[in-house]
Amino acid sequence: MVFAGCDEGKGGEAAPPEVTKTPFSPEAGANEIDHHSFANPKEAVTRHLELDLTVDFQTRTLGGSARWEIENNNARQIIFDTRELLIEKVTTGVGADEQEAEFTLSPPVRFMGQALNVQIDSATRVVTIYYRTDPTAAALDWLEPQLTSGKKLPFLYTQGQAILTRTWIPCQDSPGIRITYSATVKVPPALMAVMSATNPQERNTQGVYTFEMEQPIPPYLLALAAGDLNFQPIGERTGVYAEPELINAAASEFADMEQMLIAAEALYGAYLWDRYDVIVLPPSFPFGGMENPRLTFATPTIIAGDRSLTALIAHELAHSWSGNLVTNATWNDFWLNEGFTVYFERRIMEALYGKDYVGMLAELGYQDLISEVEDLNAAEQSADTRLMLDLRDRDPDDGMTDIAYEKGAFFLQLLEQEAGREAFDAFLKAYFENHRFETMTTDRFIDYLQTNLLEPNSLDIDIDAWIFESGIPENIPQVNSARFRAVEDQTSAFLESGDIAALRTEAWSTHEWLHFLRHLPVGIDKALMLMLDKRYNLSESGNSEILAAWFECSIYSGYSPSNLAQIEAFLNRVGRRKFLSPLYRAFIETDQIETARAIFEGARENYHSVSRNSIAQMLER
Ligand code: BES
Ligand code: ZN
Repeated sequence: MVFAGCDEGKGGEAAPPEVTKTPFSPEAGANEIDHHSFANPKEAVTRHLELDLTVDFQTRTLGGSARWEIENNNARQIIFDTRELLIEKVTTGVGADEQEAEFTLSPPVRFMGQALNVQIDSATRVVTIYYRTDPTAAALDWLEPQLTSGKKLPFLYTQGQAILTRTWIPCQDSPGIRITYSATVKVPPALMAVMSATNPQERNTQGVYTFEMEQPIPPYLLALAAGDLNFQPIGERTGVYAEPELINAAASEFADMEQMLIAAEALYGAYLWDRYDVIVLPPSFPFGGMENPRLTFATPTIIAGDRSLTALIAHELAHSWSGNLVTNATWNDFWLNEGFTVYFERRIMEALYGKDYVGMLAELGYQDLISEVEDLNAAEQSADTRLMLDLRDRDPDDGMTDIAYEKGAFFLQLLEQEAGREAFDAFLKAYFENHRFETMTTDRFIDYLQTNLLEPNSLDIDIDAWIFESGIPENIPQVNSARFRAVEDQTSAFLESGDIAALRTEAWSTHEWLHFLRHLPVGIDKALMLMLDKRYNLSESGNSEILAAWFECSIYSGYSPSNLAQIEAFLNRVGRRKFLSPLYRAFIETDQIETARAIFEGARENYHSVSRNSIAQMLER
């Protein structure tokens, strides 16, 4: 049985993308392969970074230098991406040979920032940029102590993906370019600094930390965090960083991390990054997780107390292969990162927790896919339901929808289904092995797929329908979680009888709760909402996924006057965009935009720019 879900009203009209005068065209300086970078890698390309930064919480700036070793192809100039950076000086050469170099900054372009054009000659091997970040740098979230768990010390973290690294490091900010790096970072001595690199496990008294990343990575994976951090090991190669107040809860929540790593290696080959740690950030972190190499950045909202939200760890871990080893060449190929990762995430979860569990994850994912396609169609953006995107002239962030994740994952599941698991696993394992530390375009993947899977197995699959066409192809693998069917039966009985005893929730996992909440009808009687809240204390749930789904239902059903204080507290505390957007949208669609605006005014300073900008855009209309 199908209910008109509480998420039914989600089909809001997004404004058509504003188009300025072809800002990303090669004439405007953008790179012809990656429209989101100004860099000229064919002439001169960055290979290694030596970063030297001081973190200043008073001025909310990072200051220091980025020394770049470059590969120089007889170039007269090297072009870096920058945005909102104050460039103090640029030099070429090192030591006695260091000399000031001429440079220019192009006029700022929306999202893209400014091209930093440095004059070099064919002998130049090193370029050093002395600079300071802007207090509003989009990648950086500077947190007052009040917004941390300990409430005594400040916190800083960066978020680079997709094109924000250029707001804290002048770099050739294209996923098609790989660099190694070393760094020295100075922080207030009470704090510890960590990066997407070799990390300290203890604080030092000077507050000076050094880092090394020996494997080549794209610039969007450069990451830094500084705060009152402790480390706790989980397994031999895994551990967790968090504020002292959270460290035990985090370690116990992620207790299976080492097993996940072992399962992942058994599937698709050796883990090539040495350690895998997770840092739990303050709740303003705009994403669930970010796969910064060696050190996943994670939201504290996955700490539910019962390990029910750890698929997210499997997801970020899986990126150590899909994304970090084999990287999307441009943001148009984003599905190569995320679709593969969701598929891989589910395989890890299946290895640890079995098919029933993953059946629920996949069905929730399918629901997300359906509602994303509906939303994009309603917004006349059905071109964005293709796997291969066209993000020219747009902020790449706008194209990063559930399509890449879920349509991408179901496409790989289809390939598995048609080829058989054994053949598909061998194919994927070889794919990662053959392309490690490389970038991948959609076209090259298609060639590889034809040659190594489809032809040898005589498979005839219309892959163009999946990759280049809109919507959901008919051959999408079916989802059918028996546990969800049971939830639906109980839900119908409850709605028809008004008898809460019809719900046998004792054995429900978080996922069953989510399925239940997503399928409550918009017009549900407020008396039933009250009954549910009283019985299960949903407005006070310690599980953020359940809380967010319940609040969304509360707003659509008109129950929210009863729990507005809790909704507002949640929106003030949590900055994870996946939770914020549906709740603000629910207010807008139920004619309560003024409520939304008032809450946002109070909360906006608590959000990272990524979330703040998305919500501000929603509320402008
Ligand atoms: N790499 C993404 C986060 C991201 C995507 C940041 C695009 C910036 C631009 C990360 O791996 C991710 O997918 N996170 C999801 C996790 C979920 C799918 C398990 C999230 O944050 O919700
Ligand atoms: Zn991901």
